[in-house]
Amino acid sequence: MHSFSKTILDWYACYGRDLPWRRTRDPYAVWLSEIILQQTRIVQGMDYWKRFMERFPMVQDLAAASEDEVLRLWEGLGYYSRARNLHAAARQIVSMGAFPDSLEGILSLKGVGDYTAAAIGSICFGLPAAVVDGNVYRVLARYFGLETPVGSTAAKKTFTALAQRLLPPGEASAFNQGIMDFGALQCTPQNPDCITCPLQGTCNAFHTGRQGLLPVKKSATKVQERHLNFVYVRFNGETAIHKRPAGDIWQGLWEPLVTEGTRPLSSGKWFFAKPCEKYFSEDAIRLLRKGVKHQLTHRTILADFYLWEPAERPPLPEGYRWIQESELDRYGKPRLFEKLLEEIAGRKRP
Ligand code: ADE
Ligand code: SF4
Repeated sequence: MHSFSKTILDWYACYGRDLPWRRTRDPYAVWLSEIILQQTRIVQGMDYWKRFMERFPMVQDLAAASEDEVLRLWEGLGYYSRARNLHAAARQIVSMGAFPDSLEGILSLKGVGDYTAAAIGSICFGLPAAVVDGNVYRVLARYFGLETPVGSTAAKKTFTALAQRLLPPGEASAFNQGIMDFGALQCTPQNPDCITCPLQGTCNAFHTGRQGLLPVKKSATKVQERHLNFVYVRFNGETAIHKRPAGDIWQGLWEPLVTEGTRPLSSGKWFFAKPCEKYFSEDAIRLLRKGVKHQLTHRTILADFYLWEPAERPPLPEGYRWIQESELDRYGKPRLFEKLLEEIAGRKRP
């Protein structure tokens, strides 16, 4: 058994929560609890579970009820399709003659997906199926230092396979519930209690100080990168600028010739739909600096700075205008454009 799994089992034996549906192996009672807990916190779900068990002690009682009554009892829990599926599944179970005791059978019930089937199967029938919920993602991502963004299909595969490997033989129920409780009580989303944590000694997140960075959230923390090429054109004491359009970064600010992409620019003709090679030779454009990093809230800009000094005045793309270089002060500019100007000012004219 992996030492991780041993620690989870020991921890669960000491600190596992005493929940009413853990005092029974009645699959009906466990199934009801798992459906309620799909989108509801344990403290809130507890009263509903008790009320349902009181009003419908057996699956036959639930199956015989009207949908209206089930929905009324569900009131306040939200996600009402859960209640409708619950009711329909009760009728499925009754017509099956008994609660299904295989994963495939449990999965065939309305409203039951991979997580719920693994939970019911392991808790009630000891089936070796690992659960993967938000708690499991968090604990595994931190302990093993996994950076696969949660919510991706790759993550589901990776974490399910890992949880399945860690599942101790014959202990699926305690391990599954243990890792979920561990995530809810010890390795919490905010401020995990690493000081008292029995996994601390071998926890990747703890040793690299990444508790706050793991698990990686899909879009929230993945900052997009954009590559921009800033070209300062200089001709006869003038330079060309344009105003950034709406719907993008730096709306309304002025910038030099800009293209997007990682392809290095070899000449200024890059800017024109129609090549106008007569205006510049291959060496008329010079790379000043590469990969200048600029951090915006949701993206990182990587900019390459160029200086282009054509021999003749080139035509400009739509929206650009010539201004005196000395007039640049009057225009609002993104910080990156200022950096380009500093770069140019710091160099000797060739
Ligand atoms: N959340 C949903 N089902 C649970 C269970 N059986 N144990 C711990 N947390 C849960
Ligand atoms: Fe979670 Fe901290 Fe324990 Fe690591 S040491 S498993 S981050 S509580």
